[in-house]
Amino acid sequence: MSEAPPRRDRNLALELVRATEYAALGASRWVGRGEKEEADGAAVDAMRLMLGSVAMDGVVVIGEGEKDEAPMLYNGEQVGDGSGPQVDVAVDPLEGTELCANGQPNALATIAVSERGTMFDPGPCFYMEKMATSRDLAHLLDLDRPLSETLRAMASEKGVDMGDIVVIILDRSRHEDAIREIREAGARIRLIPHGDVSAALTAVTEDSDVDLLYGIGGTPEGVLAAAAIQCIGGQILGRLWPGSDEERQAALDAGYDLEEVLDRDRLVSGEDVYFSATGVTYGELLEGVHFAGDAAFTESVSMRSRSGTVRKVSAKHNRERLRTMIGERFG
Ligand code: FBP
Repeated sequence: MSEAPPRRDRNLALELVRATEYAALGASRWVGRGEKEEADGAAVDAMRLMLGSVAMDGVVVIGEGEKDEAPMLYNGEQVGDGSGPQVDVAVDPLEGTELCANGQPNALATIAVSERGTMFDPGPCFYMEKMATSRDLAHLLDLDRPLSETLRAMASEKGVDMGDIVVIILDRSRHEDAIREIREAGARIRLIPHGDVSAALTAVTEDSDVDLLYGIGGTPEGVLAAAAIQCIGGQILGRLWPGSDEERQAALDAGYDLEEVLDRDRLVSGEDVYFSATGVTYGELLEGVHFAGDAAFTESVSMRSRSGTVRKVSAKHNRERLRTMIGERFG
C-alpha cells in the first residue's frame, strides 16, 4: 500500500495578511494629516475586526500596552476565532505612527504569530540595543566589540571598501557616539526618523544596499523583526536597554537579565512562525496604500518560517463595498 501524502496544514500567513491589509487601509485615511493617535486608532480597530475571523487561538504578547491603557489589542487579549492552533501574537497595527502622520516613507501595518510560549515578552523593557544583518554576514554580529571592528570585518568579508558599507540607524541623540564611530571608520549611514522594523528587513535583505541595522529602538519592534527574520533568514541581536533608572529597576524586579544577548531564536523561538506586513506609506520594501477612484490598492508581504515561503500580495479593494462591510472609517 502506498504511503498517504503528507497532510498540508493551514497557512495562517494568508489569513493574517488580511488583518494587515485592513490595518493599513484604516491608517491610510490619516496619512499626512498630523494625527498620529487617530491613525493608530484606525489601524488597531481595523486589524482587530479582521483578527476575529482568523482560525487561531491567540494571545497578544506584544500589543498596544496594558489593558487599562489600551482598550483593544492589549497585552494578554485573546484574539482569533479560537478554533485553530494556540499561538502567541505580536501586533503593531501601525509601525511608524509619526511616519504615517507626516506622510513619510516606511510606515507599515505588521503582525507576527508563533506557537504559544515562544515569543519573548518585553514586559517593562521599552528599548533594546539592536543589530541586524543578512544571512551571509550574520556570523559577524557582536554587541560586545567596537562597532568599527564589526564594520571592518563586514567590508573584508564582502571584499569591498569601507565606503561601500551602509548602516541604517534611527536619528536619535542617543546614537551620536555610534554615528561618529561609523563615519570615522569610513562607512556610510542612512539616518531614518522612525521605523526600525522596516529598517531591519532592509538590512537582512541580501540584495539591498544596506548592510547593517544598528541602534537602540523598541523591544516590541525587535521581536516583530525577529519573527520576519525567522522566515526570510539573517540575524538580529538585541540587548535590553533601560531608558531610565525606573525602567532598569522594573526590568530587574521582573527577572530580566540586562546583560543577556537575545538572538533571533531567543526573541522568537517557534518553529512555525508567521509574519505579515502591509505598506501604509510608500517604502523600499512595499508600496503604500494608494487610491484610484473607488479602488484602494495595497501591497503586502506574507511569510512563514516552516516553509520559508515569502509572498508579495497585491490587492485591489473596492472602497464602497469595504465601507459597507466594515464602516466609513476604513475605506
Ligand atoms: P511607533 O510606531 O510606536 O511610533 O514606533 C516607531 C519607532 O520609530 C520604532 O520603529 C522604533 O523601534 C521606536 O519608535 C523608537 O523609539 P523612539 O521614537 O522613542 O526613539
